[in-house]
Amino acid sequence: MENVIILDHPLIQHKISMLRDKNTGTNEFRSLTGEIAMLMGYEALRDLPLEEVEIETPIEKCMTPMLAGKKLAVVPILRAGLGMVNGILSLVPSAKVGHIGLYRDEVTHEPHEYFCKLPSPIELRTIVVTDPMLATGGSAVAAVDFIKQHGGRNIKFMCIIAAPEGLEKLHAAHPDIQIYVGHLDRCLNDAAYICPGLGDAGDRIFGTK
Ligand code: PRP
Ligand code: URA
Repeated sequence: MENVIILDHPLIQHKISMLRDKNTGTNEFRSLTGEIAMLMGYEALRDLPLEEVEIETPIEKCMTPMLAGKKLAVVPILRAGLGMVNGILSLVPSAKVGHIGLYRDEVTHEPHEYFCKLPSPIELRTIVVTDPMLATGGSAVAAVDFIKQHGGRNIKFMCIIAAPEGLEKLHAAHPDIQIYVGHLDRCLNDAAYICPGLGDAGDRIFGTK
């Protein structure tokens, strides 16, 4: 699938296996989520635009590349996407952060919006939407719909684990965005949880339930 990038780096795979383990506690789960996001961000941001600027080294003046333009916006889908924000910010500390609050109805599995705030102007930024889990794809499609309605154009979606169903749905709805996936899992179960997955990412990051 064009615009779908499955990141198969051994460090990412190793850390995802640790995340999956039901014996991994909240503290470690949170740290691993941030580390994986950082490693994924390193790959996902390789096309950030650069501009030549003049710098004076202790030896002489030179022209040298630095990040150009309006730079980056990170937009986590609440709650679980928050766990990936610091990993990206460790790479680009000047990035702005928006928030999209969505929760999945436990019965219908449809996303419900409860809070949205994007950095302005959003039009000129590269936008990285973060959510560890791409399950049915409903939340991701709704989040990207919202960003596009507000003028966002250059959008990347980053998830740690995807189900085939969700990946197809997001790609079909938004074929123009790049989708970065840590691991593509087997399927969804009857409760729309990813198998084998890692359980409920939000609960595991925040220690709820
Ligand atoms: C989880 C996850 C995604 C969504 C994925 O969030 O973090 O946002 O489900 O499911 P989907 O692809 O079927 O839409 P949840 O709704 O459980 O909220 P939370 O992050 O607050 O726990
Ligand atoms: N949300 C999660 O946190 N986990 C899943 O497996 C599916 C949706």
